[in-house]
Amino acid sequence: MAGNTTLTIVKPDAFGADKAGKIIALLEEKGFKVKAARVMHLTQKQAGEFYAVHSARPFYGELVEFMTSGPCMPLVLEKDNAVLALRDAIGATDPAEAAEGTVRKLYAESKGRNAIHASDSDENAARESRFFFSETELLFG
Ligand code: CMP
Repeated sequence: MAGNTTLTIVKPDAFGADKAGKIIALLEEKGFKVKAARVMHLTQKQAGEFYAVHSARPFYGELVEFMTSGPCMPLVLEKDNAVLALRDAIGATDPAEAAEGTVRKLYAESKGRNAIHASDSDENAARESRFFFSETELLFG
């Protein structure tokens, strides 16, 4: 059965442009509940580790540089079938291909500066949530 939580990050481009509130409001309107949140400035080590799965990709250096360029906002969100629901709500990686009304269509500039991250599986949602939040912070009422 699909899980009911997932991990998102409002990335430095959107956070720095004061779009975090609008993005979270949009996700709340789409039925997501915020279960955990923080603002942090990732170190190179943290960003490199978080995106280690992409380390062989040509855009890895650019991705780590971007994710450490300013503060970002990781959040754990809850909704039925959370992983798929969030990926639907944020739209395609490339904003030019993102559907109308999605976060990336509204707020992303490019494939690299694309406003928001979302976990791509329940397994990664659990791993990525533990990356940013303690077990205590993930003990939801
Ligand atoms: P995200 O959902 O955070 O997961 C991996 C990230 O890699 C992705 O969003 C993009 O920000 C980034 N990415 C993927 N493809 C490219 C690309 N072609 N050029 C730059 N960044 C990319």
